[in-house]
Amino acid sequence: MRTIVITGTQWGDEGKGKIVDMLTQKADIVVRYQGGNNAGHTIVIGNNKFALHLLPSGILREGKLCYIGNDVVVNPEELLEEIKLVEEKGIKITEKNLKISKRANLILDYHKQLDKARENAKKENKIGTTGRGIGPAYEDKVARVGVRIVDLFDKSILKNRITLALKEKNELFEKVYNEKRFDIEELVEKYFSIGKKIEKFVENSNFDLNNYAQNKTVLIEGAQGALLDVDFGTYPFVTSSNTLSTHYATGSGLRQTQLTENIGLVKAYTTRVGSGPFPTKDKTDAGKYLAEKGHEKGTTTGRLRDCGWLDFVALKHIFSLSNFTTIALTKLDVLSGLKKIKFCVAYNLDGTIIKTFPATAEELERVIPIYEEIEGWNENITKIKKYDNLPKNAKKYIELIEKQLSVPVNIISVGPDRNETILKTQIF
Ligand code: GDP
Ligand code: IMO
Ligand code: MG
Repeated sequence: MRTIVITGTQWGDEGKGKIVDMLTQKADIVVRYQGGNNAGHTIVIGNNKFALHLLPSGILREGKLCYIGNDVVVNPEELLEEIKLVEEKGIKITEKNLKISKRANLILDYHKQLDKARENAKKENKIGTTGRGIGPAYEDKVARVGVRIVDLFDKSILKNRITLALKEKNELFEKVYNEKRFDIEELVEKYFSIGKKIEKFVENSNFDLNNYAQNKTVLIEGAQGALLDVDFGTYPFVTSSNTLSTHYATGSGLRQTQLTENIGLVKAYTTRVGSGPFPTKDKTDAGKYLAEKGHEKGTTTGRLRDCGWLDFVALKHIFSLSNFTTIALTKLDVLSGLKKIKFCVAYNLDGTIIKTFPATAEELERVIPIYEEIEGWNENITKIKKYDNLPKNAKKYIELIEKQLSVPVNIISVGPDRNETILKTQIF
């Protein structure tokens, strides 16, 4: 079995969808192992644009199996909606190309309501979540009051699970958040009927992922980014799952093996959406240039993303946890036209120069980035297919990234389209 893991190394939106779709050409299976429909992965094929939230980004290529793993939180209603939207664009989705772990936890209506009620109550301390109910669904999972996909198919089990989950939540809704209580019977009827529609995609006892994957090539697609990891990210301004590449086995049930490639996606600059510290955020015209040229608007929520420079203190923190074999550098084309490109090599924290990533959001809010810079380039690089043909300063930028992070940049993305990619060396 060849196993390739592809994850974002920043605060999400590094271009995972594009790179996974491109590499799916050479794969048999594409697996999601965490997160939910807070993700928004964009794939551009000619004039067609797809925004995927839950479906693995391999779904657009025929004959590939897409698997949604056990640590993904699945909103079954929104999954059906997504399937419909993709099918409307001519992609067929059947039990042959989509399988979902029966152990995946569900996001139900009350998780979304709780997510929004909590955010509103936090006022200026809000996390800026996507409002999709991600946090509350993961909370239920570890509190052992989650409803899992397998529970949808037996009405009495479903009723028991929902009753248990709502016991405290209905009190919270009514007494703390001034929100509506949920009616158990209504929810049971609604989700039992949705269950019937997704049952065909749910793995049955004849399907075993590890068995199926033998002698095949498996791509594992991360969602969010490493700096949003619930343990190692900018806590508490993070998502509620483990986004690091190291989590792939627990999150999917795939046996751990020697990875063929562990690909870290680095966007050529940094973006962040939602609240939380962002030391290298650029509030000047350069930041605006990146936002406009990079179309930095959220795929899931439509919110504008803040933009700034590469932050090697943050990236080294993530790389030290990840064992990447290859960097995929994305959106390099967006930097064309900038006179100078800055990058952060250290922080000044209260007068002390540091190169390690602080563990608290409060310290991260206080750090002052220490920058170095290189000359930019003017050429439009979107149509370039060979590394050697890139402008001299673009190559210098790539070399400095390789030097800072001690990992080769083998994939360079120079445009949103599937084909706008430079492979420096052939990987797997
Ligand atoms: P993901 O969440 O990591 O899959 O990334 P998103 O899809 O949320 O955001 C990346 C955005 O950049 C999407 O609109 C992509 O179509 C686009 N994109 C991806 N790679 C490139 C690239 O190399 N250049 C440009 N200009 N756009 C890109
Ligand atoms: P992809 O896969 C960027 C951010 C939210 C918020 C925080 C918590 O497209 O890269 P949540 O709804 O997960 O509880 O929100 O995480 N966030 C993302 N930011 N890209 C994503 O996914 C994100 N998924 C969650 O903006 O700050
Ligand atoms: Mg995204």
